[in-house]
This record gives sequence, structure tokens and C-alpha cells, in this order.
Amino acid sequence: MTPQRFHLGWFMNFSANAAWRGPWGGDTGATWPDGRFHVDFARALERACFDYMMIEDSSMVPDHHGGSLETELHHGLYAPKHDPVGLVATVAAHTSRLGIVATMSTSLYPPYLLARSLATLDHLSAGRVGWNIVTSSEDRAAQNYGRDRLPDHDERYERADEFVDLVERLWGSWEPGAVVMDRETGRYVDHTRVSPIHFDGKWHRSRGPLNTMPMPQGRPVYCQAGGSPRGREFAAAHAETIIASAPGVEAMKAYRDDVRSRMERIGRDPDSCKILFVVAPVLAETDALARELAAWQASDTDRLAEAALAHLSALTENDFSGFDLDGPVPQVTTNGHRSTLADFLRGAADAATLREAAARWTISSLELVGSPDTVADAMCAAMDEVGGDGFLVSGEMSRDVVGRVCDGLVPALQRRGRVRTRYTHERFRDNLMEF
Ligand SMILES: Cc1cc2nc3c(=O)[nH]c(=O)nc-3n(C[C@H](O)[C@H](O)[C@H](O)COP(=O)(O)O)c2cc1C
Repeated sequence: MTPQRFHLGWFMNFSANAAWRGPWGGDTGATWPDGRFHVDFARALERACFDYMMIEDSSMVPDHHGGSLETELHHGLYAPKHDPVGLVATVAAHTSRLGIVATMSTSLYPPYLLARSLATLDHLSAGRVGWNIVTSSEDRAAQNYGRDRLPDHDERYERADEFVDLVERLWGSWEPGAVVMDRETGRYVDHTRVSPIHFDGKWHRSRGPLNTMPMPQGRPVYCQAGGSPRGREFAAAHAETIIASAPGVEAMKAYRDDVRSRMERIGRDPDSCKILFVVAPVLAETDALARELAAWQASDTDRLAEAALAHLSALTENDFSGFDLDGPVPQVTTNGHRSTLADFLRGAADAATLREAAARWTISSLELVGSPDTVADAMCAAMDEVGGDGFLVSGEMSRDVVGRVCDGLVPALQRRGRVRTRYTHERFRDNLMEF
């Protein structure tokens, strides 16, 4: 029997990334802003036949941690960070098969602007654009757009449902064949095939039609990461790929089974959504070297704990700096990343102190430490248990790490027949849905 293949994505930031000061950071701390490092990165992923790169985003410099910008900016966590939209265009010009996913928020973007930008990007990439549909999590971001706060967690998803409905109508406001380019008559567009949408919803309004033509893929590939029950409902309704963090094989399988049964309940084919689980493999020539490397990476406990808590402060808009690092893990709540906080608290259940819980906090679904062959075997075994559909590699972005993954781990997976060795199609969705 041919083994079931699975998909690969890479979760990245358009920022300096923690790797800049590491031993293999090179000049990336200074040069990332011109995009060339990310282009090199994307080309490595395309060489390894990844399905896509996913560029995360947020719109603020958080100051909840200690009531100051200091810790955030010291570690360069949320800022400085460029807008992913520009990077999509640049990467598109230097690649030909890789899917490129931009994060754009339904709580912050006007629907018309988003629909037009993504249509443009799908043309610039010849049908390779994806949209990571997020609802944002932070009031600080809302304040940068002139609002006091974000709507409540579940209402954000209600609004997002309507937002998706609206942008789909804008993308459909030009019928296929509307661009006639008739040299005889000189008619470029048949106006009878382009119509206003007059969308007047509960939260969003737009007249339409869109002022640019239909995009190669018809609409971008929809990516989503909802973890809460309402987020999963939204993902089940719309997502074609989900990026998920679930601690361990059992939780991964439970998450996937849950989303697939939600999809079936609303009449969608569960195979039309590929769920990719976040992993951060630590790779070296031998298992022993990889274990040593992982131990070395984990040894800077205080720095790791401080960065993790600043990150959690931003994601949940709680001030984690106010808690005793040597005390118990505080049971806080949030209107922000609810499931991320729940996962942190669950993972911290057996931690003796907040410092310990924070230092070891990870969104990686599996602990993958070893040689390329060892890690490849563990990934294949996990996929066999879970049922599919692939992995989203994350963690430090350095040329060293991308080399270990693309020249070591991926070939090991290819030798096992578990990931593609060449792209079959030109467009992102076609490759993603191939298996
Ligand atoms: C791998 C991953 C990547 C994410 N990327 C972003 C992002 O770039 N921007 C953002 O605002 N939220 C991002 N999120 C947060 C999700 O959109 C979502 O809010 C979060 O998973 C919590 O789920 P919930 O909203 O259903 O509680 C990401 C989540 C995960 C697991």
C-alpha cells in the first residue's frame, strides 16, 4: 500500500525573529526589512516542495507587560514587524509554486480593501495567494484603528462570517468572461457581466462591484486557526487549511476529528480542509547532538520565561509581570487568544512555578528532537495516528534552521514517500487539495 502523503507549511513572521542574535543569525537582524532574507527562505521552502509559507501578523506594540513597551521591544516580539501584504508580492516575484498566505484581520480591514488587495496579490502570484483569516485579539490593535476595543470574542467570529460573505460577493461581482478584450470593437470589459452587490449586513456594508477583475483562483485559499468552540465552528465553515496547535498526538487527533465532524454536520467534505499541526523540530547529525542542542536552547530559563510572559501578556492583555515568578501559575481569563491561554494553563498544570511554566511554554504539538531520520519517523508515526493532514514548521528562522529542515528533514520524509518530491500543479489550492 502506498503510504498516505502529508502537507508541509512554514509559520513565519516578517520581522527580525529571535534567531537574529543566535550563533547562526548572520546579518538578518539588520537586513530582514528589505525582504531578501524572507525571499531566500521562501526559495528554500519551494525547493523542498512545501505547500505554503504562512506570514502571521498583528497591528500593535503591546504595553500590557509591566505597563510598558520595554519588554516587548527589548525582545523584539511583536515589533518591529512589517506588513505581510508587501512580502507576498515580493516572494511571488521570486518563486513559482509555493503558496503564500498573508494574515489579514476581519476586525481591522475594511472588506473592500481586503478583497481588492487579495485579488491583486493572487494575480501577482499567478494563483498562489492564501488568506489567514483572523479576528485579532487585542484592544491595543483596535485603538490603532480608532476604536476603543475589539468586539467580544464570539461576536468577532459572527462579524467575520458576514465579512467572508461580503468579500466573496465582491470577488463574484465580475462574472467569468467579463473581460472580453475584443479587438474588433475595442471593448475591454462587458459591463453587463459586472454588477454592484449592494451588501447591507448587520455589521458591514459595501456597494461594489470590485474595481479589479476576478482572480486566478476565484478566491484566496482560506487559512484559519480557531481553537475555541466558536473558532472551530468558523474554521469548519470556511477553512481550506487550518493551522493548529494541540499538545500531543491524542489532542491532535481529537482536534482533527472534532473539526471534521463539524464540517460533515454542515455539509462540507472534511477532506476539503487540510489541518496542519505546529511543530518546531530540533535537528542535528545524531540524536545525541540534537538532544544536546535542545538542552542548550532550553538553558536560558530566565530569558525564555520573560519573553514567553511578555508574549502571553500581549496575546491575552493581562499583565503577567505582576505575578511572582517563583509563585504558582495565575488562573487568568481573556477576551483575546482564548484557546492559546487555555493551552498554556493546561500545560502548566504540573509546573512548580510560573517561571518553569513560562520557560517551557511552546505551541509545538510534538516534541521533535533528533536526527533527520529519527524526526521523520516520529512525524510519520504521528500522522498515522492522527489521520492527516500535515505539519506547520515554526520556531527560529535562521538560514541554519531552514537548511536543516529543507536539506535534512524533508529529504528524509521524501525517502519515506510521505511528502511530495515535485509540484504537480501551478496554483496553490490545486497542490493543497491534490492529496
Ligand atoms: C499557528 C497559529 C498562528 C496564528 N496566527 C495568528 C496571526 O498571525 N494573527 C492573529 O491575530 N492571530 C493568530 N492566531 C490566533 C488565532 O487566529 C486564534 O485567535 C487563536 O488560535 C485562538 O483561537 P480562538 O480565537 O478560537 O480562541 C494564530 C494561532 C495559531 C495556532
